Amino acid sequence: MKSKVLVSLLSDGQVHSGERLARELGVSRTAVWKQVRRALDEGYEIDTVRGRGYRLVTPVDLLDAGTILAGLAEPTRNRIALTVLDEVDSTNTEVVRQLSKGAAGVPVAIADSQTKGRGRRGRPWRSPRGENLYLSAGLTFQGGFSVLDGLSLVLGVAVAETLEGLGVPGVRLKWPNDIFLSDGKLGGILVELQGELQEGVVRVIAGIGINVHMSHADDVDQPWASLGQVAPQTDWSRNRIASALINALLETAEAFAEKGFGSFQGSWQARDMFKGRHLVAQGGDVIGVGCGVDGQGNYLVEGVSGVVPIRAGEISLRVAL
Ligand code: BTN
Repeated sequence: MKSKVLVSLLSDGQVHSGERLARELGVSRTAVWKQVRRALDEGYEIDTVRGRGYRLVTPVDLLDAGTILAGLAEPTRNRIALTVLDEVDSTNTEVVRQLSKGAAGVPVAIADSQTKGRGRRGRPWRSPRGENLYLSAGLTFQGGFSVLDGLSLVLGVAVAETLEGLGVPGVRLKWPNDIFLSDGKLGGILVELQGELQEGVVRVIAGIGINVHMSHADDVDQPWASLGQVAPQTDWSRNRIASALINALLETAEAFAEKGFGSFQGSWQARDMFKGRHLVAQGGDVIGVGCGVDGQGNYLVEGVSGVVPIRAGEISLRVAL
């Protein structure tokens, strides 16, 4: 989108004259004015300062492929094929497209906004422009579908540890893979099976959504949190979070392929939101007390007839009020 270049020129928050912007963009002053109008339509707040030029009112946190790549560990940078988009239907779908084009490396897609962002259980994922992080990667594993047990939980651990590394204490995990902070949902993970490429080689698309700057969400029907709200003292940069997450994602996928879920079980349990709480299943019946996960990533609930494992996707659980 053309206005993105204009917005990046204005991103220092200073007044820029129409003449200078026209020179920098290589267009006429009328074309600059049209781009300002377009940027306003896209939701950017730009002031026209009479006789002086244009100024961005609220600072923007623009995604930038170069900055994201610069923040990666070298082995990760050499392994991935990064796509950064202004708008996309879903970054998970974009990764599928990149794979069908034959991406050179592990395909990773990030977008400024999603028009058809997907959540678990067929729910839409709110994906407003410029506010949050929408990131997906195509990951390949050897050993058939059964090696994927617990993968989505492990990715939750990777996200929690990444956020802790960026200075956010108290990140918790709600089985199977919601990321919670301060009693609100901060993010979620959507793992979609792509299928078996050849004997025993399976591919999944792992999508991660994290609320970064979001300050209102009237249409979200559950308590939510964003990094900007809970930790406003930090100047959150989506590029920085993206680099840290991609590093963690690739390292974690490698460790998971080597050691399986067992070596992450303790890290997951340490952040378990359900532990010791009375849990309610779909429909509202209390079914028992949360006891953590087993070696396959099933959730263990202690009820009247003993401890029962619950498989992800079978029943959705929540804490009894
Ligand atoms: C959930 O908690 O329901 C999972 C949400 C996953 C959202 C992310 S945003 C990036 C990727 N693209 C999508 O369409 N969904 C995932």
